[in-house]
Amino acid sequence: MTSTKAEVEIGYDISNEFFRLWLDERMHYTSAVYDAEHTTLEQAQRNKSKWLADFAEVGPDSLVLDIGCGWGANLEYLALERKVKNAHGITLSSAQFEEINARKLPGVQVWCVDYRDYKPAALYDGLVSIEMIDHLVSPAQQKEGQAIQIYREYFNKAAQWVKPGACFGFQAILRDRVPRTRKDLEDLKFTADVIFPGGLNPRMEELVEACGQSWEIVQLNTRRQDYGKTTAEWLRRFRANKEKIMASGWGTKVMSNGETVWTNYDRYLSTCVKAFANHWSSDVQMKLRKKD
Ligand SMILES: C[S@@+](CC[C@H](N)C(=O)[O-])C[C@H]1O[C@@H](n2cnc3c(N)ncnc32)[C@H](O)[C@@H]1O
Repeated sequence: MTSTKAEVEIGYDISNEFFRLWLDERMHYTSAVYDAEHTTLEQAQRNKSKWLADFAEVGPDSLVLDIGCGWGANLEYLALERKVKNAHGITLSSAQFEEINARKLPGVQVWCVDYRDYKPAALYDGLVSIEMIDHLVSPAQQKEGQAIQIYREYFNKAAQWVKPGACFGFQAILRDRVPRTRKDLEDLKFTADVIFPGGLNPRMEELVEACGQSWEIVQLNTRRQDYGKTTAEWLRRFRANKEKIMASGWGTKVMSNGETVWTNYDRYLSTCVKAFANHWSSDVQMKLRKKD
C-alpha cells in the first residue's frame, strides 16, 4: 500500500491555520531553491516553482497538471505569475482541497483523488510533481523489493497522461546515508511513523531506474542544502509561534491537542534540519522528457 487517504490526512489535515503559521505565504510544503537573488523563504519558494515550470516547458496556453498539489502554492504560481490559463491539481487531502478552492485561482481546477484513480479528460502539455512520490512506497514494500516497480508504475502512468514529447518538472526528497547513533535513528523513524505514516523517501538510483522506461532525464539538480535552509526557516517560524500552537485545539487522531502537536513537530522539524546537514536526506529536481 502507498500512504492511504487516512495516513495522508495525518500529515496534512491538522489545521490549515497551523501550517499557515510557519510555511511561506503560499504554503509550499517542499524544498525552496535559494540563490543570490532569492534569499527569503517566499522568494526561494517562487524560484522553486519557476525552476519546475521551466523544466515542464509551461507557457500560458499549456494544460498543466500538478500531481500531489498540496495547498495549491505551485498552482497559484502557475495561474498568477506564469499566466497559465488551465492548471489542474490532484491531492489526497480534503483540507488541502478545501484550501485550494477557497483561493479561487483563475483557471485552476482541483480533484481530491488518489493519482491511481485519476482519469484526465485530455492529454497534458506538461506535468509538475513536488515531493509526492515520497508517499508511494511503504517501508515494508521497500524491504520486500517492490519500490522500483511502484515508482515505475507512477512514472509510466504520468507518461500516459501527456502529449508526445511533453516535459515533467519533478522533485522528490531522497534518502541517503543511515545515521550512526540510536537517537538519530529513532528520530528519523519517528518522523516516518508519526508525521508521515505509510511513506518512505526513495533513493536516487531507484528513481533513475524507475523513470527510464518512459522518461528521458534531461537535467538533474540536487537541493540538499536548499532543503536544510528551508527546514531551518520553517523551524524558526514554528518556534516563534510556540504559545499559539500550545494553546490551540489543533490535532489529529494521533496528536490530540496543541501541546502534542508542538512537541511532535518540534522534534520532526529539528530532525529534518539535521538530516539535510548530515546527508541522511537530500532532495532532487529532474527535468524529464517523455520517450515516444
Ligand atoms: C509533501 S506534500 C507536497 C505538496 C505540494 N506539492 C507542495 O509542494 O507543497 C505531498 C502531496 O502529495 C499528495 N499525495 C500523496 N499521495 C497521493 C496520492 N496517492 N495521490 C494524489 N496525491 C497524493 C498529498 O495529498 C500532498 O498534497
